[in-house]
Amino acid sequence: MATKIILDVDTGTDDAVALMTAALSPDIELVGATVVNGNTVLDSCVENTLRVFEWIGMPEVPVHRGMSRPLARVQPTQLNPATRIHGDRLDLPEATIKAAPGHAVDWLIDTYLASAGDIRLVPVGPLTKIATAIVKEPRILEYIPEIVIMGGAHDHGNSTASAEFNIWLDPEAARIVVNCGRPIRMVPLDATHRALVSGEQAEGLRALGTPAGEAAARFVLKRIEGYDATQPMPHRGGAAPVHDALAVCAVIDPTVITTEFIPVDVETGGELSVGRTVCDFRFRSRRPANVHFAMDADEPKFNAMLRDILGRTAPAARSGTGQVPGASSPRSSRPVMGAVDGADSASPSPLQSSSAE
Ligand code: BDR
Ligand code: CA
Repeated sequence: MATKIILDVDTGTDDAVALMTAALSPDIELVGATVVNGNTVLDSCVENTLRVFEWIGMPEVPVHRGMSRPLARVQPTQLNPATRIHGDRLDLPEATIKAAPGHAVDWLIDTYLASAGDIRLVPVGPLTKIATAIVKEPRILEYIPEIVIMGGAHDHGNSTASAEFNIWLDPEAARIVVNCGRPIRMVPLDATHRALVSGEQAEGLRALGTPAGEAAARFVLKRIEGYDATQPMPHRGGAAPVHDALAVCAVIDPTVITTEFIPVDVETGGELSVGRTVCDFRFRSRRPANVHFAMDADEPKFNAMLRDILGRTAPAARSGTGQVPGASSPRSSRPVMGAVDGADSASPSPLQSSSAE
């Protein structure tokens, strides 16, 4: 039976791959996506999320708009290190679909309270909205079987020397979530940097000939360019982590990561270390373990999962009834929707370039 999840995103390039992976995997039932400020401003994160679902022919997945700034801090837009990697708007046609009405926090609360306690929560952006929902209605906790977070870092940070972006952007929110008492798996940089996707593998995704494969190739290649320019992988240039997609793959197949069950907390007051996930591998704090923290990942398995899942098309597109946008890429005369019955290869999409590249 497919695992139900809610994916909480701040859609930039790796969130986009995560969304496509969750939406197209036969092992996942994507109940909805909730959107938070993070990689770029909330409006752009929402628009990017809608673009992704429309592009892969799944406009029916509900998208809910959430928080536009961290709980206790001003969004430091001008210092936001993520824009160097993601840009602002994804390189996909502008969305014609809209976000669902209402606030994502209320939708989360209503959805959990009405659920059978079987919807896993997968936040892959700053934890602002999840913390807000927990504080507003603590009863939701008993309905959340597990929280699988992309975030945190032990060995090295990316926003600062010791902090990972999702936690760094809203450490107060992260602290609430990490200490909420529910089962938590954390997929930090220590794991995502062990499961890279190379340029060659990105071209392999493009060669799948599906909308998701084409989009993933664009996003991964953009990521590699950004990483090589700003924070090259020390052990391997020409490849980049696709963090958020690894968290989704860990829901599908937990063996794609290797975890240790340890006490983890979040630094909110440190001058140099704010946003650090403090990992007590040796139980010095005498606190009980609260997080299954991933220190390793299986790169070949991750890439194989992406190839398998992103090679799929949406059910409506498979039956030929779905309206799958962007039948060919203006960057190439080669049709990219070859695997999709009824795809309109005569109507190229007006692809937009990211404004912040
Ligand atoms: C995380 O930060 C964001 O930039 C990515 O989307 C990912 O969720 C990695 O640090
Ligand atoms: Ca993200």
